[in-house]
Amino acid sequence: MSDEAGQPGQPEGTFYDLVGGHDTFVRLVRGFYEGVAGDPVLRAMYPEEDLGPAEVRLRMFLEQYWGGPNTYSEQRGHPRLRMRHAPYAVTPQQRDRWLRHMLASVAGLGLDHDQEAMLVDYLVRAAYMLVNAPEDEPTVSDAEAGSS
Ligand code: HEM
Repeated sequence: MSDEAGQPGQPEGTFYDLVGGHDTFVRLVRGFYEGVAGDPVLRAMYPEEDLGPAEVRLRMFLEQYWGGPNTYSEQRGHPRLRMRHAPYAVTPQQRDRWLRHMLASVAGLGLDHDQEAMLVDYLVRAAYMLVNAPEDEPTVSDAEAGSS
């Protein structure tokens, strides 16, 4: 046990530090993009053949948001997340798929309960905030499922 961490009067690290810093965010975002790679609906939204650069952008953003290095803003400027998602039609279905992969990855990190709850709460709110298009037209199979 460290004798410095948790002493009264010692400043606590940022959330980024407390959850394990860079390695934790690498694992979080890698797990998420593994989910995206296997999800045809979401995968079709990502313009680049290689998901690697998108993985780095999302990781840098989340690291910065939670108190890690400011590399995202140095490289990309102000986040303006809604504006940056405007070229993509983010429907409720895509939000839910995004969240399913992200929350599965969060669950694999082994964070303590409160840390996990904070991260999940933020991700859910951010994903809901970024929806910018109504649900796709129902498919024939949706209509059949609803009519029985
Ligand atoms: C709601 C479902 C979401 C969908 C379908 C979605 C989809 C996308 C797509 C297709 C891109 C472009 C890939 C790229 O070039 O980087 C992107 C970029 C990005 N997304 Fe999302 N996203 C969602 C939610 C979120 C959330 C909740 C966050 C943050 C908590 C986020 C943060 C970012 C960031 C930081 C970028 C890169 C922006 C840049 O610097 O160009 N996204 N997203």
